[in-house]
Amino acid sequence: MKGWLIPLLFIVLPSIVQAQDSIKLELLHRHAPQLHARPKTQHERLKDLVHHDFIRHNRRQAWETPKTTTATASKTNAAIQMPLSAGRDFGIGQYVTTFKVGTPSQKFRLIVDTGSDLTWINCRYRCARGDNCTTQERGIKRGRVFRAHLSSSFRPIPCFSQMCKVELRNLFSLTICPTPLTPCAYDYRFNSLKLVLNRYIDGSDAMGVFAKESVTVGLTNSRMARLHDVLIGCSDSSQGRTVKNVDGVLGLANSKYSFVTKAAERWGGKFSYCLVDHLSHINASNYLIFGANNNQLTVLGNTRYTRLELNLVSFSYAVNVQGISIGGKMLDIPLQVWDTRKGGGTILDSGTSLSFLTDPAYQPVMAAIKMSVSKYPQVKLHGVPMEYCFNSTGFDETLVPKLIIHFADGARFEPHWRSYVISAADGVRCLGFLPARFPSVSVIGNIMQQNYLWEFDLEGNKLRFAPSSCTTR
Ligand SMILES: *[C@@H]1O[C@H](CO)[C@@H](O)[C@H](O)[C@H]1NC(C)=O
Ligand SMILES: *[C@@H]1O[C@H](CO)[C@@H](O)[C@H](O)[C@H]1NC(C)=O
Ligand SMILES: *[C@@H]1O[C@H](CO)[C@@H](O)[C@H](O)[C@H]1NC(C)=O
Repeated sequence: MKGWLIPLLFIVLPSIVQAQDSIKLELLHRHAPQLHARPKTQHERLKDLVHHDFIRHNRRQAWETPKTTTATASKTNAAIQMPLSAGRDFGIGQYVTTFKVGTPSQKFRLIVDTGSDLTWINCRYRCARGDNCTTQERGIKRGRVFRAHLSSSFRPIPCFSQMCKVELRNLFSLTICPTPLTPCAYDYRFNSLKLVLNRYIDGSDAMGVFAKESVTVGLTNSRMARLHDVLIGCSDSSQGRTVKNVDGVLGLANSKYSFVTKAAERWGGKFSYCLVDHLSHINASNYLIFGANNNQLTVLGNTRYTRLELNLVSFSYAVNVQGISIGGKMLDIPLQVWDTRKGGGTILDSGTSLSFLTDPAYQPVMAAIKMSVSKYPQVKLHGVPMEYCFNSTGFDETLVPKLIIHFADGARFEPHWRSYVISAADGVRCLGFLPARFPSVSVIGNIMQQNYLWEFDLEGNKLRFAPSSCTTR
C-alpha cells in the first residue's frame, strides 16, 4: 500500500537521445511564499483553487470543437530548462515558473498551464513616445509589469493583418481596427462561461494586445538561448482569482500558438515536468523541460508509456482511459465515459488542481474510497464543494485503497494516495474529485499528477510517466 514511499528502485532516466541539451524552466506552485498576497489558510486556498477548477471545466465544455492536426517540428540538439514550483506560497493551485521576455529581458512569474494557448503577461505598451504611462495600468494592481516600450524586440501585431483577423480569432482577437497599424487587441473574457455558470463571473480574464517578442531561456547545459517571434499577449488589464498573485500565464496547450509549439520547433517535439507535492514551498522546485529530459531525476518505480492523443480534444492532451480500479477491484463504469466520440474522454491538465470525473465514474469512485475512510467523522468544510471530507486526526494512511487508472494500451497510472485523499485544512482530508455532468471530458488535474515525471512526446504521440520525488540525484 505504501510501497511508493519506499524507494526500492532508484533508476536514473536513460537519455533518450545522446548529447542533447534542453531548455529548462523552474516550476513553482501558485500558492508559494515569494508571492504577494497569499491566502491565510490551507482551507482558504482550497476554496480558491476549487473555484478556479469549476470555471475552467465549464469554459472547456463551451470550447470543444474538433481540431486539426498540429504541425510537428524538427529536432535540434538542445533542451530548455525552466524552474518549476508549487504555487502554494502564492495562494494558488497551479505551478509557476519564471520567464524572461524582451530585449533587454524582463523577468516574470507565470502559471504553467497546459490548458491555455496564449502566453500572456501583465504589460504596459502605450508609452512609445515618452507619454505619461502612470495611468495606463488599468487593472494591474500588484506584481510586475512588462514595460513594452523598453524592449527593442517588442513588435505588436497590426489589427489589419490576416493573423489578427483570422488566425488569432481562436485566441479572442477583437475586430476593432481604427487604423491599420493599431495593435491587434484581445479580450480573454469567457462570455460563454458566464452563460453556463453565472455564479462564477469573476473568472480570470485578461485584455490587451498581441505581439511578437523574444524570450530568453536557460538550457540544460547552463547556457542561455533566445527564441524569437514568440506570440505573447501584452495584458494591460487582468482580473480574477487565478492570476492575482502572479504576472501571467505560460500557455502550453496543444495548439499552434502555444509556447510548446514554438519551443518544439527548435528543441525537439517534447516537453516534460515533474510536479512537486502541491503543498511544497517555493524552495522545493523542479524543472519544466522542452526537449530531451536528461535530468538525473530520482525515479521510484517503473517508467510507463501510453498513447498521447493530440487530435481528440481540442487544445488538449488526451489519453485513452479504459477503467479505474480501487483496492484491486475494477469499477463498473460505462465505457462511453472514456470515449471522446460519445462525449466523454480524459485529458491531463496542469492548470486544473483537482480531478474531474463525469457522474458515471464519479459515483463509484467516491463510493469505494468513502467506504474505506468511513470510520473517521465526516466534516463539512464551508465553501469547499468537495463532497466528502473527514476529520483525519490519527489518520491511518494504510486504509486508503490503491486507485489505479488503466489505459487502453495496458499501461497503469497509480497516483500516490495523497493525490486523491488530499489535505484540505488542519486535521481535515477530502476526497479530491469533483463531479462533472456527462457528457463532458474527465480531467486528471495537477494534484493527481504530483510526484510523477510526465513527458509529452508530441512527435511520437507518447506520454511517458514514472513516479518520482521530483528531486535530482
Ligand atoms: C504623469 O501623470 C501623473 C499623474 O496623473 C502626474 O502627476 C505627472 O505630473 C505626470 N507626468 C508628466 C511628465 O506628465
Ligand atoms: C523551505 O521553506 C520552508 C518554509 O519557508 C522551510 O520550512 C523549509 O525548511 C525549507 N526547505 C529547504 C530545503 O530549504
Ligand atoms: C477532529 O477530532 C479531534 C478529536 O476527536 C478534535 O479535537 C478536533 O477538533 C476535530 N477536528 C475537526 C476539524 O473537526
